[in-house]
Amino acid sequence: MKILVLNGPNLNMLGIREPGIYGKSTFADLLRLLEDTARAEGLDIEQYQSNHEGDLVDKIQWAYGRVDGIVINPAAYTHTSVAILDALKAVSIPAVEVHISDVDAREPFRQVSYAGRACVKTIKGQGLEGYRQAILYLKERLA
Ligand code: DQA
Repeated sequence: MKILVLNGPNLNMLGIREPGIYGKSTFADLLRLLEDTARAEGLDIEQYQSNHEGDLVDKIQWAYGRVDGIVINPAAYTHTSVAILDALKAVSIPAVEVHISDVDAREPFRQVSYAGRACVKTIKGQGLEGYRQAILYLKERLA
């Protein structure tokens, strides 16, 4: 089973950016968590991070026919990107939306998610652990 984990803009700055909101764990810690989860669960997990909306759209299109499930944290593009929503709908691959912070408890503009409309589940406010939960959910759903 192959799962693509997509991370949007500024998530490569984890550990540096606003630690009061996103925590002290770094992006390298997230990559380790993904590797550990892949090993423990016997999954093929590919991670891709980009600060560019079109690159994320390209990667979602690339996933068609190659990937069984998608975990996506579109970061700021969550709240703006119809293009990412349309790409997820186009490929029709089961996707879980993850947010490290509890977006519902933050500014009103963060409470709108375009990508979430094409996702089977949203996990928010669980820190990096949310990615593991999303992967385990997809593994069970796809089995
Ligand atoms: C985020 C929440 C978004 O509102 C924000 O723009 C991010 C990260 C999260 O993981 O909590 O960059 O997606």
